[in-house]
Amino acid sequence: MSDPVTSATGQSPSLQAAGNIPPILLVGCGRMGSAMLSGWRERGLAPSYAVDPAPAAASFAGPDMTVVASLAEVPDSFAPSAVVVAVKPQNAADTLPAYARYAGHAVFLSIMAGRTIGGIQSLVGGNAAIVRAMPNTPAAVRQGVTVACATAAVSDPQRALCDRLLQAIGVVAWADDEALLDPVTAVSGSGPAYVFLLAELMEQAAIAQGIPADLARLLARQTVSGSGALLAANPEDAAELRKAVTSPGGTTAAALQVLMDPAAWPASMQAAIEAATVRSRELAG
Ligand SMILES: NC(=O)c1ccc[n+]([C@@H]2O[C@H](COP(=O)([O-])OP(=O)(O)OC[C@H]3O[C@@H](n4cnc5c(N)ncnc54)[C@H](OP(=O)(O)O)[C@@H]3O)[C@@H](O)[C@H]2O)c1
Repeated sequence: MSDPVTSATGQSPSLQAAGNIPPILLVGCGRMGSAMLSGWRERGLAPSYAVDPAPAAASFAGPDMTVVASLAEVPDSFAPSAVVVAVKPQNAADTLPAYARYAGHAVFLSIMAGRTIGGIQSLVGGNAAIVRAMPNTPAAVRQGVTVACATAAVSDPQRALCDRLLQAIGVVAWADDEALLDPVTAVSGSGPAYVFLLAELMEQAAIAQGIPADLARLLARQTVSGSGALLAANPEDAAELRKAVTSPGGTTAAALQVLMDPAAWPASMQAAIEAATVRSRELAG
């Protein structure tokens, strides 16, 4: 079987340097919308308008971007190249039909979890150019990973624009098969929670071994974030880095003998990712 992920892109200086800011409309300026916004601003890619009724959203306005509470406040003459949809999935049905007016010329870039391309088409029109993407919360520190999937109606320049917007918050991979977004959601969309859980459990276990709570918290946080940085800095597989800190008969080996028991972490991780994948399919619409 050929690799279903067609390309993966890092943060390219050439794209970063590319000028020519296209008109962008951001719909939803909450946690993910504002995280993307700050990445875009770093690259001079701020949307012209952001629509969000939440009073807190007004604080994101600046000389480069106007925040409005509803689409009615966006001038009729405004013609965005991209409409970035970052509202909650449950708000899609109420929100998106009003944006169908942009379907002729804009690409819709949706980051809504579980909202399928078909579901979005039913709200903005079957011929709309749509990119469905699944980012994750490390986007807030430009360390996210996003998998994106485009409809046939998406032109090469539209795809390049979406790639540029998503690269501003981390690494981007494109998939041809939308069905992959369910396991992608399970691995990288939900994945930060698994890593945070690891930090929580290490902290609790440290306290159980008599380490004072403050120090336990420091050790758990710094071990998780430092190991992530080490992984990011090394081209080797995670397994190689693990082996490099595991002396035969040593303390790490004693711990890994517990964790790597087939019924322990290997089974738990398989079951967890499978449960999240199944849930993603159940929620799709
Ligand atoms: N957080 C994650 O880990 C993650 C990861 C991948 C993808 N996503 C997706 O990202 C999307 C946004 O998630 P989030 O965590 O950023 O949610 P959020 O913080 O609740 O942000 C959504 C924002 O949209 C606003 N909004 C509601 N109705 C609107 C409308 N009709 N027009 C414009 N804005 C409207 C909300 O305002 P009110 O608060 O007033 O309703 C809120 O400010 C979701 O679809 C989610 O599935 C999230």
